[in-house]
Amino acid sequence: TYIVTDACIKCKYMDCVEVCPVDCFYEGENFLVIHPDECIDCGVCEPECPVEAIVPDTEDEPDGKWLKINSEYAEVWPNITVMGEPPADRDKFAEEKGKFEKYFS
Ligand code: SF4
Ligand code: F3S
Repeated sequence: TYIVTDACIKCKYMDCVEVCPVDCFYEGENFLVIHPDECIDCGVCEPECPVEAIVPDTEDEPDGKWLKINSEYAEVWPNITVMGEPPADRDKFAEEKGKFEKYFS
């Protein structure tokens, strides 16, 4: 499966949702997740993300942190299939590291 990681937080460009053939993205306040059981591993979303937040789960943290976050929140957040309005200040957060600890919602 593919997963969404830290770089998405507060950037949330949403180009990814437009290309997913199985509509398996779910939306939080400032982050999206992929439902790992629904993702068919097609890989088309990966190059669409301007901040390279989407990676295969083989590139997850050693403790499987992001797979767990994607699995958990895909169960509670609403499905998103159409690109919405990205945050106006998204470019400010594109390079920032450790956004999960600071801003995740
Ligand atoms: Fe959707 Fe394919 Fe990305 Fe999985 S890899 S989330 S199926 S676009
Ligand atoms: Fe996030 Fe990238 Fe999609 S910033 S919303 S994973 S295009």
